[in-house]
Amino acid sequence: MCSDSREIALEDGLLCVAMAVMNSLLEAEARGISSCILTPRGKDSLKILRLQKEDKLVLFVGFGYEEKDAFQVKRYRAPLNELVSYEWYGRKQ
Ligand SMILES: Cc1cc2nc3c(=O)[nH]c(=O)nc-3n(C[C@H](O)[C@H](O)[C@H](O)COP(=O)(O)O)c2cc1C
Repeated sequence: MCSDSREIALEDGLLCVAMAVMNSLLEAEARGISSCILTPRGKDSLKILRLQKEDKLVLFVGFGYEEKDAFQVKRYRAPLNELVSYEWYGRKQ
């Protein structure tokens, strides 16, 4: 992989955001708080948070308490044993 230092800094920044968001989501879940990640699109996103146009908004993360029966569609979750590999990709035990 080739990358100049500016790209590395950008990737590092995004990775830091991702790690902070992931930790926040896990902590929220552990406390019974629901969350939703949304990709900001367009200028409206900047307006909502009153950011300057040179600011870079990476993600919206909403937290809140889920209304009872709010989700009408049953969400599919692949079983862990379909997703997890041991030692190398594809090894299932
Ligand atoms: C980085 C990232 C960005 C996302 N952006 C959006 C988005 O802009 N709009 C959207 O409907 N879902 C978006 N999602 C997906 C939702 O946050 C959520 O994961 C999805 O609705 C499935 O929910 P569930 O995993 O609880 O079933 C994004 C997910 C990730 C990880």
